[in-house]
Amino acid sequence: MEIPEIAALFGDLPDLETPRLLLRKLRPGDAEDMFEYASDPEVARTVTWDPHRSIDASRGFIDYTLRSYAERRTIELAVVLKETGRVIGSCGFVKWSPGNGRAEIGYALSRKYWGRGLMTEAVAAAMEFAFGKMKVHRLEARCVDSNAGSEKVMIKSGMKHEGTIRDCVFEKGRFRTMKMYSILEGEYRK
Ligand SMILES: CC(C)(COP(=O)(O)OP(=O)(O)OC[C@H]1O[C@@H](n2cnc3c(N)ncnc32)[C@H](O)[C@@H]1OP(=O)(O)O)[C@@H](O)C(=O)NCCC(=O)NCCS
Repeated sequence: MEIPEIAALFGDLPDLETPRLLLRKLRPGDAEDMFEYASDPEVARTVTWDPHRSIDASRGFIDYTLRSYAERRTIELAVVLKETGRVIGSCGFVKWSPGNGRAEIGYALSRKYWGRGLMTEAVAAAMEFAFGKMKVHRLEARCVDSNAGSEKVMIKSGMKHEGTIRDCVFEKGRFRTMKMYSILEGEYRK
């Protein structure tokens, strides 16, 4: 198994481009755009984080991410709609275990843009990066069992349902059942 040069990869995160999107590192000036989607309770309902209650929460998250880039411990990318140049979501790797060749992808999109195939497009670029540059062998994604939109993104991206893990996290005041999906490198390359 090939283990990538981690420091080099983090130090030089490239922009990823798709027909409609640009995936790039977050910038301090993205707070307003981020607040617009991250303050939406409907967007936050199915993710681990709480809706941002003020623009300071978005600034705080961006500051934290910029520090994490500097410390080379995150691959979180802003999803920019090329047509407008605005940040409309995020797509990145919430976990990465290079020694095991395993990573987990996570994403969120402004509600205004749901249902246009945009996150499937972003995930395709992130997947190419994961298998090509991060040298993962297994890419995972998980969602709460009622999150049909996210599950559909995983299925359209070629991932397989591996199982449903009952009440496996306590989040937002209740136990949540998660659906686990994955794709292996060999399946991706086919
Ligand atoms: C999940 C999310 C990123 C999907 O983004 P998106 O750009 O709308 O996704 P896509 O358009 O690429 O694909 C979504 C698919 O799910 C379908 N879908 C959406 N909601 C659905 C629902 N309630 N039931 C069934 N299908 C649904 C869409 O019709 C689309 O399928 P299609 O291409 O066959 O029409 C977006 O809904 C979101 O940000 N949700 C809130 C945050 C979140 O849940 N993040 C993921 C955490 S695991």
